[in-house]
Amino acid sequence: MIRTGEIAEVKKYVREWKRQGLTIGLVPTMGYLHEGHASLIRRAREDNDRVIVSDFVNPIQFGPKEDLAVYPRDFDADCRLCESLGADLVFHPEPEEMYAPNACTHVKVDSLTEHLCGVTRPFHFQGVCTVVTKLFHISEADRAYFGQKDAQQLAVIRRMVRDLNFPIEIIGCPIIREEDGLAKSSRNTYLNAEERKAATILYKALKKGHEMIDAGETDAAKVKDTIRSIIGTEPRATIDYVEIVDRDELQPIETIDRPVLAAVAVYIGKDRLIDNFITGSLNEKE
Ligand code: PAJ
Repeated sequence: MIRTGEIAEVKKYVREWKRQGLTIGLVPTMGYLHEGHASLIRRAREDNDRVIVSDFVNPIQFGPKEDLAVYPRDFDADCRLCESLGADLVFHPEPEEMYAPNACTHVKVDSLTEHLCGVTRPFHFQGVCTVVTKLFHISEADRAYFGQKDAQQLAVIRRMVRDLNFPIEIIGCPIIREEDGLAKSSRNTYLNAEERKAATILYKALKKGHEMIDAGETDAAKVKDTIRSIIGTEPRATIDYVEIVDRDELQPIETIDRPVLAAVAVYIGKDRLIDNFITGSLNEKE
């Protein structure tokens, strides 16, 4: 497996693979890899001749008061996992390699970023779209893999790719959870034992909401109230948002009469966790 932090080096391999007519799958990550990331890498391995994993804590998607400095990192463990999953190349650049000191170009998706995490993280998706655009160009990938764990991110990237005619297919992958339902996340390592237990409230609440919709409830307010009240039973939990939005446009809806995304962001102690479910299919073709 190739490990490199240099864009020119990645491009050298990509050129050679393209010359041989091989397909390339890209899995963008911020490292500290877990089973959620592994599921994306496995899927990329199945679908493509070559697999590139990017491992880069992207500074421009963090707000000034967010956890950039303490974001967990373990590059050696990440490489071991990537190698065991059959990745061909891990791209691990320094921030200076990705961003020139006078870089001043950004990619911004409107509308889909107005609600949900866009409210408290106003520059987040611009940072994500900019780095993902760069990674698409550097890797020249045929397909890129994103988790539904970050459902808004997935929808925003799909829209960016459609709107700007990127020659790449976006594959959404299901949420991987711990046995007790907590969605796997690099940020779960911030939780102490009591907080870890408390964090299961997100899944419990969403599960109930999902059951209500499956049973035919169409009033979004009722489903949101139920989710809120279940989360409210956990004293360590503070709700940032509980939303039900149109699955593709990400606009709040009152009546559940089309595929929806139900998403929550909840502080457990100081740490902000997100989780969600969707109704309908994750990928149009599947
Ligand atoms: P990161 O949080 O490292 O996540 C990388 C990818 O793994 C994302 O597509 C995310 O949705 C997916 N993922 C994380 N936890 C998952 C889980 N439990 N189940 C399934 N997939 C999961 O998301 C980012 O990094 C960054 O914003 C990035 C896209 C790399 C841009 O910097």
